[in-house]
Amino acid sequence: MQDVSRRKYLKTSLMTAGTLLFAGRVKANTCSLTPAQTEGPFYPIEDQNDKDNDLTQVRGSRESAQGEVVIMYGKVTDQNCLPVTGAMVEIWQACASGKYNHPGDPNPAKLDPNFQYWGRAVTNKLGEYQFKTIKPGHYQATSTWMRPAHIHMKVHKRGFEELTTQVYFKDDPYNAEDRILQSLSVTEQNNVTVDFKKAVNAQGKPISGPRKGQFDISIRSY
Ligand SMILES: [Fe+2]
Repeated sequence: MQDVSRRKYLKTSLMTAGTLLFAGRVKANTCSLTPAQTEGPFYPIEDQNDKDNDLTQVRGSRESAQGEVVIMYGKVTDQNCLPVTGAMVEIWQACASGKYNHPGDPNPAKLDPNFQYWGRAVTNKLGEYQFKTIKPGHYQATSTWMRPAHIHMKVHKRGFEELTTQVYFKDDPYNAEDRILQSLSVTEQNNVTVDFKKAVNAQGKPISGPRKGQFDISIRSY
């Protein structure tokens, strides 16, 4: 190879490698932000003695909450996919009958005294959080609108944009008609819809224990 064409070849190769490296880096380090959704009218306004990450058990009560127990877990990252340590993750939701512990909830359904309607978790070094809760009941938002099972969530930490959103259960029959969920793009809907699954043994058969669902969250750092 002559000197000039050799230099040209090397230059082109280096540029191509650089482009590939750059493209690879951008792809590997970009996390799509979790879409925000309305807070709704039932964010807790009264403090609770017990606000830990197990909503199925109220401190001091011997009975557990009614409804199907589920575990929701995941990781909080920033837009560059770096784990967010020490983020506060709050959830609030209706009990199995579809009622919120909020004076403004007009639903005539009964409250469950053994359900902890609001809980908090702080992410660990890896950005991980977990909640034990129950699948919330459906409730009528208006006379023509039934809300699917959903868990409200807020995530905050200094230096990050606060996120308020809602998490849905895959296969809920009311997802398809929900005005809030359907106002999101399909990608965003998938982002906030969780597949709660039974754990399986080595043979692929479901084993006892609650269904578990992974909900990873991405928030923007300033
Ligand atoms: Fe709600």
